[in-house]
Amino acid sequence: MNEAGPLPPPCSTPQDIHPVAVKGFSQEGQYDRKRPAYTDSAVDLIKDLLLSEGKEENKDNPGIYDVVEVGSGTGKFTLSFLDRIEKPIKYLATEPLGNMLGVIKEKRPEVFTLQCAAHDLPLPDASAKMVIAAQCFHWFSDLSSLTQIHRVLEPGGKLVLIWNKRDVSVPWIGDLGDLLEDIHTKCNTARHQNQAWKRIFDTYAGFEELNHVSLPGPSIKGSVEEILAYFSTISVLSISEENMAVVSEFIKNHPDLQGQAEITIPFRTDIYWCSKKI
Ligand SMILES: C[S@@+](CC[C@H](N)C(=O)[O-])C[C@H]1O[C@@H](n2cnc3c(N)ncnc32)[C@H](O)[C@@H]1O
Repeated sequence: MNEAGPLPPPCSTPQDIHPVAVKGFSQEGQYDRKRPAYTDSAVDLIKDLLLSEGKEENKDNPGIYDVVEVGSGTGKFTLSFLDRIEKPIKYLATEPLGNMLGVIKEKRPEVFTLQCAAHDLPLPDASAKMVIAAQCFHWFSDLSSLTQIHRVLEPGGKLVLIWNKRDVSVPWIGDLGDLLEDIHTKCNTARHQNQAWKRIFDTYAGFEELNHVSLPGPSIKGSVEEILAYFSTISVLSISEENMAVVSEFIKNHPDLQGQAEITIPFRTDIYWCSKKI
């Protein structure tokens, strides 16, 4: 039994989700192995945001979740977070794609999970102290999702957004970013790097101002093949051999990468948060 009460049945189907996400995240094992982890310092910052709220029971609503995660995928953020929280908390990981969510269920059957999309959260009003979206808010930065997130947060509750983003201050990564921007435009997909996701906060008045910190992030190191295996987990590349070939050519031919037995991709970690207006 979930401490916060019985879970509702799964509600969303892949038809509700961008087709590039459905196809692009169909290789859940590869995604889980090849995407970078979240650093302890990033996870701790979010943990402190949660714990600074205090852990007293809400007497009016004892079933309230400490955290509802949206777009939890295979649980890369979920499990890092749960592993660094010393006290038991009520955490619910939600994700629309059953194959991605299946990885969490297999690794940690004790974690509460629910298959649903951010725009269709089958949870009561004011039932979460915090909503977290890791590496995914750009997929649903629209009015219906933000309205749902706002609805399930308690007044004063926090929405936290986190992304590991390739460090574009490295010249070859910046050059590749321009190519990827073109690919995203062609595939009609959002990406976090260009910050278009932020616009929804200009038009939605339910939250206080967005706070932001940028931290040193993880890094990935490996041979050309290993680096390409990481890129193959990016949905717009995974759906198209043609798109993947553009990246492969780039990595194999960029002058800065010639003769390197091991390539390093450094990341920065961007964390944004805001409170639901009281
Ligand atoms: C890049 S993955 C991030 C997964 C995980 N949070 C992580 O940190 O690795 C993006 C996730 O967003 C999910 N997603 C896409 N559209 C969504 C939507 N409308 N609502 C909720 N999640 C969505 C995808 O299914 C996918 O699992």
